[in-house]
Amino acid sequence: MDNIEEDIRALQLDSSGEDSNMVTNENGGEHQESIALDKLEEDLRNESQTDSHMEEDANPHTGHSDPQAAIAVKEQATSAPEPVDDEKNKKRHLNVVFIGHVDAGKSTIGGQILYLSGQVDERTIQKYEKEAKDKSRESWYMAYIMDTNEEERAKGKTVEVGRAHFETETTRFTILDAPGHKSYVPNMIMGASQADIGVLVISARKGEFETGYERGGQTREHVQLAKTLGVTKLLVVVNKMDDPTVNWSKERYNEIESKMVPFLKSSGYNVKKDIQFLPISGLFGTNMQTRMDKKVCPWFSGQCLFEALDVIEVPLRDPTAPFRMPIIDKFKDMGTVVMGKVESGSIREGNNLLIMPNKVQVKVLALFMDEDRVRSAGPGENLRVRVSGIEEEDILSGFVLCSIEKPIPVVHEFIAQLQILELLENAIFTAGYKAILHIHSVVEECEIIELMHQLDPKTRKPMKKKVLFVKNGAAVICRIQVTNMICIEKFTDFQQLGRFTLRSEGKTVAIGKVTDLRA
Ligand code: GTP
Ligand code: MG
Repeated sequence: MDNIEEDIRALQLDSSGEDSNMVTNENGGEHQESIALDKLEEDLRNESQTDSHMEEDANPHTGHSDPQAAIAVKEQATSAPEPVDDEKNKKRHLNVVFIGHVDAGKSTIGGQILYLSGQVDERTIQKYEKEAKDKSRESWYMAYIMDTNEEERAKGKTVEVGRAHFETETTRFTILDAPGHKSYVPNMIMGASQADIGVLVISARKGEFETGYERGGQTREHVQLAKTLGVTKLLVVVNKMDDPTVNWSKERYNEIESKMVPFLKSSGYNVKKDIQFLPISGLFGTNMQTRMDKKVCPWFSGQCLFEALDVIEVPLRDPTAPFRMPIIDKFKDMGTVVMGKVESGSIREGNNLLIMPNKVQVKVLALFMDEDRVRSAGPGENLRVRVSGIEEEDILSGFVLCSIEKPIPVVHEFIAQLQILELLENAIFTAGYKAILHIHSVVEECEIIELMHQLDPKTRKPMKKKVLFVKNGAAVICRIQVTNMICIEKFTDFQQLGRFTLRSEGKTVAIGKVTDLRA
């Protein structure tokens, strides 16, 4: 369906006024569509408020089936935990996810960043060179810095999201190195949902850009997912410029840029404000920490990767909003420790908070940022939080650590506006359709209970006719149910916790936003 990308844009997943204006209006009518959508949202809200039936007490969370419970995040620990370090709070902090098609060079770039920033010594590199050679994967030695487990090294493919840290002049970065292979898209979603900005890695090598960009290639899927998951800015890194099939060719770079720009626009990115392209070689570290020599690439005079990361701007976050931290992982370490990214509000040692949906009150015993202990942390930080009052076994990924005064809503049904991307062959989207719901760190089976309205593709208004099923490319308002209680928010209240993807048999079939909650 040719219109799918336009429809995604029309869904206006990023509802910030600035952004909707930023989407360049090539085909006209976009702005009106967004007004219509806002209006629609309002109508829907009013409608459902009248007939909403909030049950007083949510059932405690029992028997939560979590198909992705095994998702883990690797940590590239470079130093042992230290005493409390309040200096950390002074530099701004950004989470950057590396996305892109399999083998584009994400882990190589991540490894090179750690090497260039002095966190990996020559001896370790030599050791990896030998290990990679023994596995007949000579060129993978840089990727081995990020790909730490056996399976990843043997196959040369990232499986779990790798995590590492580095700093530029102005910013502390947490790198999240996502896997590119299509089997691991759920892990990529986990990585991207923790990120503020993305580095989209594209291989310039002959044939590789093409495969990634094709329909079904992960360059496309990752960009669409990243936008849906709230990655507001992308650095598009054209990698492998050193490759003999490329040899720093300006034509190749321009070709890739000219093909990517319309696609990025149609995915909802404002190319002028949210996107920056740059050529690099991740394997050799060219144009990464310092600008490159004119002899290497005479036609490029823009920023190098570190400079671009250093000045990238992201929206301000509100440290005074109610506290929300979706839990992505938990473990035992002198008590119960939960891991996640603070989506809003602030946290301090000694705070009393709630773990939802099971409504257990906990006390914050200690906070860790990167490898360091800190007294407090604000929104955007990836934290490990040691708490008392709950056993590790009673927590699942997808639970949310939140404020007691304003806890996150708990539901097992919600209304959503959905954009169908591409259904599996022979599948019809109708009441009874089942898929896997990914919303912040929640991964749950869900079922479409009722198709309420289809949206007119032209006016984006609900159509009068009763809708029984829809096809690829359709936009619908529907009622969705999950078996276990989940913690989510309305998109208009909190974008990050109110936008989601539906996946089925390893494919992203729809994206959407929560328009109303049912108890
Ligand atoms: P997945 O994790 O499986 O998605 O792959 P990835 O994107 O992390 O790619 P990875 O870093 O594992 O690199 C894949 C292959 O591309 C390896 O053989 C790398 O050596 C090679 N490669 C990465 N960057 C460059 C580069 O700048 N130049 C050249 N010539 N090869 C590169
Ligand atoms: Mg990788």
